Amino acid sequence: MRLILLGAPGAGKGTQAEMLMNAYNIPTISTGNIFREHIANKTDLGQKAKGYMDQGQLVPDELVIELVKDRVKKDDCKNGMIFDGFPRTIPQAKALDIMLDELGMPIEHVVNVDVQDEIIVERISGRRTCLACGETYHKIYKVELKDGLCNKCNTELTHRDDDKLETVKKRLEVYHSQTKPLINYYQEQDKLINIDGLGKVDEVYAKITKALEVN
Ligand code: AP5
Repeated sequence: MRLILLGAPGAGKGTQAEMLMNAYNIPTISTGNIFREHIANKTDLGQKAKGYMDQGQLVPDELVIELVKDRVKKDDCKNGMIFDGFPRTIPQAKALDIMLDELGMPIEHVVNVDVQDEIIVERISGRRTCLACGETYHKIYKVELKDGLCNKCNTELTHRDDDKLETVKKRLEVYHSQTKPLINYYQEQDKLINIDGLGKVDEVYAKITKALEVN
């Protein structure tokens, strides 16, 4: 299965991607996680991306597209993949169509996880992230087993630099102006599945898997 998860920052894309990845046994390609890994490893790409991310701005298309082009050619994508946080602009979506057509494996479904901005702010303000493995938690909705430590790798959980309220507001603005137009883009390709992102994590997951079975 080749799937894109669309949605505002904090809508729950990463949470759902992780569950779908385990269920369908295909990799998730999260451009945000890839950039955070580069930042942690202090690479040139990481240094470039950090400036944009800290401001709540998008990393320039050409940097993101190159990164994804290399990633989709890897062997583990042969049976499918889940895109989380990519594409985020129309030029990225067009570039993805071209690169996947060349590989003979076009996108099949685009799941748009719809959550209102007020809920987004609540979800992001309660989020803590493991910068080592990318797992996310929430102080109310997804509590870790050992206080402050990642369930998977025991690393101390932190708040992401771009999860400050002012930056979240900027990210939402950027989402509405640059990423939301992708909803129409994929609707026109007849690939869009709209999912109400309200409700518990498991409830949203059940809505997504049910819709994927029907489509
Ligand atoms: P990225 O890391 O992709 O961030 P994002 O899209 O803003 O999404 P988030 O990771 O913030 O949220 P999410 O939807 O995954 O929600 P989550 O599951 O964590 O990008 C960061 C930055 O990198 C961008 O701003 C940009 O600068 C750059 N970048 C990345 N990709 C790019 C691209 N393609 N082009 C250009 N720049 C790019 O959930 C949020 C919280 O809510 C968690 O605490 C979770 O536990 C909780 N939660 C989840 N589901 C529920 C639920 N149903 N009920 C209650 N709580 C829930």
